[in-house]
Amino acid sequence: MAKQIKTIGVLTSGGDAPGMNAAIRAVVRTALNLGLKVKGIMRGYAGLLQEEIVDLESSSVSNIIYHGGTILYTARCMEFTTPEGQQMGAEICRKHGIDGLVVIGGDGSFRGAGKLAALGINTIGVPGTIDLDIACTDYTIGFDTAVNTAMEAIDRVRDTSTSHERCSIIEVMGRNAGYIALWCSFANGAEDVLLPERYDGNEQVLINRIIANRKRGKKHNIIINAEGIGHSTSMARRIEAATGVETRATILGHMQRGGTPTCKDRVYASIMGAKAAILLSEGKTNRVVAYKHGQYVDFDIQEALQMKKDIPEDQYEICKMLVQ
Ligand code: ADP
Ligand code: F6P
Repeated sequence: MAKQIKTIGVLTSGGDAPGMNAAIRAVVRTALNLGLKVKGIMRGYAGLLQEEIVDLESSSVSNIIYHGGTILYTARCMEFTTPEGQQMGAEICRKHGIDGLVVIGGDGSFRGAGKLAALGINTIGVPGTIDLDIACTDYTIGFDTAVNTAMEAIDRVRDTSTSHERCSIIEVMGRNAGYIALWCSFANGAEDVLLPERYDGNEQVLINRIIANRKRGKKHNIIINAEGIGHSTSMARRIEAATGVETRATILGHMQRGGTPTCKDRVYASIMGAKAAILLSEGKTNRVVAYKHGQYVDFDIQEALQMKKDIPEDQYEICKMLVQ
């Protein structure tokens, strides 16, 4: 028989992402509506192990939906990757009467969530990362805001790049995934894009294209480089030396993680947060909420973690046709 849940906890873990606050708000208000009590766990698993646990009411999540970041703060926690840390986490949940937990984060956070579920704490994951690198879902909280922020920043770099007739290498985040880079290559009309999933390291191809572009009168040359490839500054130096075209590197960095969440991130995060609270109220555990083929669905955590994701080949082919 499904375990009767009375009190749930919610935490954010790993890198923050715009829209996490909308998810927290939805978890809290949905759970309260279902007659559950809600506790906020500060600073992810680190705060759980430190017992940084607060009661959350409906008013605790007022006026947060339009703010970036996470009101619960977030952290990475090595101790929680150990069996002892996980055991302690489960005991602390029991001590505080937390019999269900929503974990908002990425794959790493879901591994931790799976461990807590195995130790008897009903746990549901909600995908929160700007990287879009969670295989079971077509949407992750924060990607839409991050990619719009990066797009606007790249437009600005493009203006100055054109004025100075320069080549610009612009590095975007994404860890080992190239989704932000791919989307920016489309949205910014880039001259080239380097994705960790596809780049073979052949810089000569890049150099030849810059020279050819310059010969046919291109004033700027925007190259989007994914963080997973990195080394933008040294790449810029080598490209300038080989092409004779003045080249600058811009690393967009953490500005991509902040700022007001887009409408899409607020709406999808709200629905996912609410779904997570509903799953807990139904006695479900060890699930991840996902958005797949236009539907909100949920998967077993271990199955979700085993799924593989790659840049869709048709999108990459179109991207290659459009960059020039
Ligand atoms: P993300 O959730 O964004 O992928 P991380 O990979 O940094 O971010 O993971 C966030 C946290 O999740 C880690 O700091 C750690 O506390 C926890 N975590 C990661 N991997 C595991 C694991 N294998 N077992 C238990 N907890 C884990
Ligand atoms: O996972 C989100 C992300 O911003 C990645 O794109 C990046 O690789 C990483 O986090 C940066 O982590 P930190 O904030 O610890 O520097």
